[in-house]
Amino acid sequence: MTGRPPDAGPEAAPVTQFRTLDDADLSGKRVLVRVDLNVPTENGRVTDRTRIARILPTIREIADKGGRAVLLAHFGRPKGGPDEKNSLKPIAAALSEELGRPVAFVPATVGDIAHSAIGAMKDGDVVLLENTRFHPGEEKNAAEFVEQLAALGDIFVNDAFSAAHRAHASTEGLARRLPAHAGRTMQAELAALARALERPERPVVAVVGGAKVSTKLELLGNLVTRVDVLVIGGGMANTFLAAQGKAVGKSLCEHDLLDTARDVLARAGACRIVLPIDAVVASAFKAHAPSRAVPVDAVGPDDMILDIGPASVAAVKAVLETARTLVWNGPFGAFELQPFDAGTVAVAQEAAALTVAGKLVSVAGGGDTVAALNAAGAAEGFTYVSTAGGAFLEWMEGKVLPGVEALRR
Ligand code: 3PG
Ligand code: MG
Repeated sequence: MTGRPPDAGPEAAPVTQFRTLDDADLSGKRVLVRVDLNVPTENGRVTDRTRIARILPTIREIADKGGRAVLLAHFGRPKGGPDEKNSLKPIAAALSEELGRPVAFVPATVGDIAHSAIGAMKDGDVVLLENTRFHPGEEKNAAEFVEQLAALGDIFVNDAFSAAHRAHASTEGLARRLPAHAGRTMQAELAALARALERPERPVVAVVGGAKVSTKLELLGNLVTRVDVLVIGGGMANTFLAAQGKAVGKSLCEHDLLDTARDVLARAGACRIVLPIDAVVASAFKAHAPSRAVPVDAVGPDDMILDIGPASVAAVKAVLETARTLVWNGPFGAFELQPFDAGTVAVAQEAAALTVAGKLVSVAGGGDTVAALNAAGAAEGFTYVSTAGGAFLEWMEGKVLPGVEALRR
């Protein structure tokens, strides 16, 4: 899913603010590695292994250099102690398969059981400790729990950008307590993000889609100050259309946020905002519901906007053709229902083609976004596709991510 890794060289410069595995002496060391194994499962089976695939290079490098990789991760959001449904045990098997090496599961996170399992490790071994969130000290970032974790290792490596928005013991506390390094995925992620928003080649275009304005207000507020063009799609675009006095029929729309949407438009300043000019409408929210494309001024009272129309697709493609950098979060339409994925698919394929042709740096993230780009067969062509959900959004909001900050030199 990672297309071409962001080039090394000048663009990767900000990453030198972080210690990486290049600076670590791994041989014979107990290396506590924070990974994100919060993967989707059904009946204990992992249904999407993308996050597992992402951490393999770091684990392999540590093991190959003679380190003893002790993996730390959370799973789900357990409340008040251990519960079987949130155990990492089934994930260890999937990880071992992907890694092609044994991964011993340790049914404890800290304490005697963890100590003796780690004490028995040989150089190059890999173990996975039980869910860090089984301990209340994890989410509280409690000093005592940080100490218990720190006692298990010599070095800390964080390869979980997607959990870096949490100031937890295993993401932030440990990084301040032990010599801390960014893993290879964290390093690639930070380099890609720096290229997309911190020091981008201009013009920079942001595409923001998804259902609701309410969940993306801070993000929109930050983006209008940083990008040259902001393309708004998905259900949230309906709120903007309604704010401009257009009828949206039965479409998803946050009618209580019209003033807020007007405020975003008013504050855009030099940032050009691109809204849909036509829409694909249907009378039911279901796959293959009879549909037609109409200008956004002609949405009827029973119509539901389920995608952007062909004129909007052409307009967004034209924007991308003049851009040098794209950052994308959120689909344009109800992409999970065919044929209402068409707008997202068409724009995603264009972005991928421009990237492969060397004309665009494209970075995308967010749960739905990754699924949409994969469905479009476009993810491979992007410069970088982040598996982060909340962390990617907070980064787009311009927030400081505590797990990243703690890794600075
Ligand atoms: C995620 O799945 O987005 C990360 O693993 C973080 O999980 P959380 O939202 O439960 O902290
Ligand atoms: Mg989340």
